Amino acid sequence: VSAFFTVKWVDGRVRMLDQRALPHETNYLDFGDYAGVAGAIRDMVIRGAPAIGVAAAYGLAVTAIHSQARDASHLREELREAASVLRAARPTAVNLAWALDRVLGRAGDPELDTVEALQEAVLQEAHAISQEEVRASLQMGQNALPLIPDPAKILHHCNTGSLATVEYGTALGVIRIAHEHGKRVHAYLDETRPRLQGARLSAWECKQHGIPHTVIVDGASGHLMRTMGIDLCVVGADRIVANGDTANKIGTYNLALAARAHGVPFYVVAPSSTIDMQTPHGDEIEIEQRPAREVTHVGEVQITPDDTPVLNLAFDVTPAQYITGIITEAGIAYPPFEQSLAELMLRVRRES
Ligand code: MRU
Repeated sequence: VSAFFTVKWVDGRVRMLDQRALPHETNYLDFGDYAGVAGAIRDMVIRGAPAIGVAAAYGLAVTAIHSQARDASHLREELREAASVLRAARPTAVNLAWALDRVLGRAGDPELDTVEALQEAVLQEAHAISQEEVRASLQMGQNALPLIPDPAKILHHCNTGSLATVEYGTALGVIRIAHEHGKRVHAYLDETRPRLQGARLSAWECKQHGIPHTVIVDGASGHLMRTMGIDLCVVGADRIVANGDTANKIGTYNLALAARAHGVPFYVVAPSSTIDMQTPHGDEIEIEQRPAREVTHVGEVQITPDDTPVLNLAFDVTPAQYITGIITEAGIAYPPFEQSLAELMLRVRRES
């Protein structure tokens, strides 16, 4: 288990590691209301699709626990209000909406007819989501083991480790679990402009866990594939839609194109909570645009001329045709994804 934690329920508040200050400082911040949690998601105190989902679920839990509602139906109304604010915090990662809908669904149980019963149920559902994300991470790592050669040079984008989930992670979790199984893995970490999740966060996690790693600039991946024999690419996902098209951190699509050009397997690693079967095609995924300052500045230092126009798209969509396989806790889906993802989600629903 990591020496740090990403998000936790502590004394009736949501405690988060402030990822904006990493790797130089490990500060924890406490949030006692949903507006604070929504702000933390928006400002990327916490980020990464599964972690955002867990934070949002706890955002509903703080709302419930501190509510002064006089009866269960008023509390349900407060929860719906909180959910609409939390939902708007970031649009692309489906885990956010998924976790909120799951907690609201639980809160809708008519048997929860007192404020106290509802409070307890909401908090327990948030805990359950958090625990399930950890179990899913461990299982994804197990499922991926046969796909990782020994030794292996693995290219990774963004941060998808404990910081992006609750513990272990998706793509970085796969690398960590292979390492813990004694495989000689070396992670090549895209720095991931503009927020530098690779250089700041993935490098920090790899260092903590003793995973051999090297940070590269995003533009280096094609050259590495051509000259160094990269064995596979692993990336996370913010939303995987029914046909397999996958939204993930900007630059993922370029990586997938380079991988295809060089015959390098390209795997998406994500829990089933990231799969959105309601959306048929990647073109329908809303892509978040973030402030220009993330591009014009590195930290406090401005690197562009004053007033430079900027397009800061936080995510891109990798068409399913470039994806070798989608590794989930419920198994690995291979093309054609329409069919394999539908079967996989059916299994997940049956088992839950
Ligand atoms: O903008 P971020 O840092 O929230 O983006 C994170 C990613 O794109 C991750 O790859 C994705 O959320 C999966 S994390 C397990």
